[in-house]
Amino acid sequence: MSDPKTTFTGYARYRATGQLAFLLHRITGLGILLFLLIHIVDTSFVYFAPELYDHAIQIYRSLPFMIGEIFLVWAVFYHGFNGLRIIIFDLWKPEWWEKDIAVKSVYWVLVLSILAWLPAAFIMGKAVIENHFLGG
Ligand code: HEM
Repeated sequence: MSDPKTTFTGYARYRATGQLAFLLHRITGLGILLFLLIHIVDTSFVYFAPELYDHAIQIYRSLPFMIGEIFLVWAVFYHGFNGLRIIIFDLWKPEWWEKDIAVKSVYWVLVLSILAWLPAAFIMGKAVIENHFLGG
């Protein structure tokens, strides 16, 4: 059975690349969760407080939010790919946790997540430039 303390002691259990993968997985997981929770609340404003809903949409159109959303897309790709890596290793290939393969797989996940993210980042980045810098 899993020990709740592992949630905290986990911070000290990996080294170098594994620690980076673990931290990114936690940060992206919590980041996506935070965004989802906020988004459920602000979308509910359309029914409960329409005047606040318009305000929320304005915030989403601001420069920091639009840039944040581009990184949110990367966070979803990274968390998804890394989550699949963990699931595959844990369920079917525990011997792949052996250091060399595990370290290489972290880099593969990083490369894949960036490649999958680039088209969306390009389209969203174009919208940022058009809306905020070209007055479109
Ligand atoms: C694309 C589908 C997803 C996959 C394949 C996936 C996979 C996983 C896996 C395997 C873990 C456990 C990691 C471990 O054993 O250390 C995990 C943790 C977690 N996931 Fe996901 N996940 C997905 C989507 C999401 C979404 C949409 C959210 C947020 C709404 C989320 C939030 C979290 C959080 C907060 C954790 C805990 C992280 C930690 O304890 O460090 N995940 N995910």
